[in-house]
Amino acid sequence: MSKTVKLFFMVTILTSFSVSFVYPEKSKVPPKIPHAQDDKYTNCLECHEKGKEVDGKKAPVTRHPAMKKCSSCHKPLKN
Ligand code: HEC
Ligand code: HEC
Repeated sequence: MSKTVKLFFMVTILTSFSVSFVYPEKSKVPPKIPHAQDDKYTNCLECHEKGKEVDGKKAPVTRHPAMKKCSSCHKPLKN
């Protein structure tokens, strides 16, 4: 391997490590929304901030409650 190729790989690997460290939400795939998106589910944080129980299912607590526009990353499971 030439020096340029080695350098290229090192830079790529280091960059992805630092990105995943500083912005974990940008380097992972956001889980899809398994539930409906009607009126009952408009205020995401009402359930996902503390983990409210709905119909016997506990909403997973989000580790990033400060992020707005949840649906810009989380897409519905089915359209
Ligand atoms: C009325 C309460 C409630 C509201 C409001 C709500 N959710 Fe949920 N959410 C739940 C519950 C309960 C589950 C777990 C469902 C299951 O286990 O089948 C869930 C699951 C999820 C998951 C899957 C998480 C995982 O780890 O797989 C995502 C993503 C999600 N919701 C996003 C959203 C977004 C985005 C909104 C706003 C548009 C929202 N939710 C609004 C109750 C709610
Ligand atoms: C910039 C994109 C982005 C935005 C905006 C965003 N999320 Fe997420 N979310 C993610 C990613 C990526 C994961 C997976 C994280 C992981 O696996 O470490 C995730 C995971 C989750 C989970 C599963 C529990 C967890 O932390 O692993 C829930 C619930 C959730 N998000 C809810 C929300 C809610 C509610 C909002 C709005 C307040 C929101 N998300 C906004 C990208 C985003």
